[in-house]
Amino acid sequence: MVETQTAVVGAGIIGMATALELARTGRVVHVVERAPSPGAEASGAAAGMLAPQHEADGPSPFLELCLEARDLWLEVARDLLSTTGIDPGHHTDGLLHLALDASEWAALQRRSTWQSGVGLPVEELLPAEIRRRFPAVTQEIPGALFYHGDHYIHTTHSLEAYYAACRAADVHFIFGREVTALRTEPDSGAVRVAAVQTDGLEIAAETTLLAAGAWTGQITESIGYRLPVEPVRGQAVLTTMKDDPPEYILSCTDGYIVPREGGEIFIGATSERVGFDRSTTEEGVQSVWKAAQWILPSLKECRPSQSWAGLRPGSPDDLPIIGPAPGVRDLWLATGHYRNGLLLGPLTGLLLCRWMTTGEPGRDMTPFLPDRFVG
Ligand code: GLY
Repeated sequence: MVETQTAVVGAGIIGMATALELARTGRVVHVVERAPSPGAEASGAAAGMLAPQHEADGPSPFLELCLEARDLWLEVARDLLSTTGIDPGHHTDGLLHLALDASEWAALQRRSTWQSGVGLPVEELLPAEIRRRFPAVTQEIPGALFYHGDHYIHTTHSLEAYYAACRAADVHFIFGREVTALRTEPDSGAVRVAAVQTDGLEIAAETTLLAAGAWTGQITESIGYRLPVEPVRGQAVLTTMKDDPPEYILSCTDGYIVPREGGEIFIGATSERVGFDRSTTEEGVQSVWKAAQWILPSLKECRPSQSWAGLRPGSPDDLPIIGPAPGVRDLWLATGHYRNGLLLGPLTGLLLCRWMTTGEPGRDMTPFLPDRFVG
């Protein structure tokens, strides 16, 4: 048996970011992960978009959370680089969102209106301006928006940096152990989670955080919680452009392109509710590849070098589920980050650490509480 102050289930970005913050306050933290290495599921499969302007549908508490998370990444990227020597590849070049046709352009213009209304830096671009500033992208479009406030990171480097920072802060990792159940015990007339159980190893903890992405609901079932987290498969492709790879993110309804380094570009992603099936399909890969070739016609000269799929943790209202589990003590939940796990990971870690150690998250988290689904 292992004894610890905090057991974190899941070594994705949310698990590692929370573990890092807690360890830096002097707490003993054990992260348990069923894969042999960190970031093996949705985090590692992600594009690395830090794109609140692209992802939010209107002014909302979710947009506020995403903007705060995007700003925090500026500090996090500097901190990870100076602590570990690994550059997370943080870029602030923006995102070009292309309209396929007149009705999409009308929708993007409405988007531009609400975004300017809340002070977000957005530009409406007509064909002549697109031709002048973005000659490499398709010119068969009625218009596009440029979101100056959308950023991206290099997914693999960021996860490597988080892992190295955790190790430097004495976070303990237990890889290759699948959590099968939570053990509860009575606690002054209530019930508390006392341990996480894996095949052959129990980790007894003062506090437990479940950050196991789409699998979090399977773990809570062992204590009778029905947490409605559903896997949403995203298929993606990698390729390399030798000449003039873009420096900013490019997006349309059917797919997006995120630059990496050395001409490598990430092309994503489908959104499919097909259960816990992480396989790729010819149809899925072709759909994002075709969308990318439409966005950047010069991609017709390139070939995909790799394809894969990740399972995003989706929630019924597409909002994250963050906070103490209602009705049971010493259990915390952080899942449902859906399309924004890498964006929201560092902020989720910071808020949870503050919340667990002081009893207050330091900002209003009401819209994201687990209570809306579990109670
Ligand atoms: N963040 C983009 C996606 O999940 O596809």
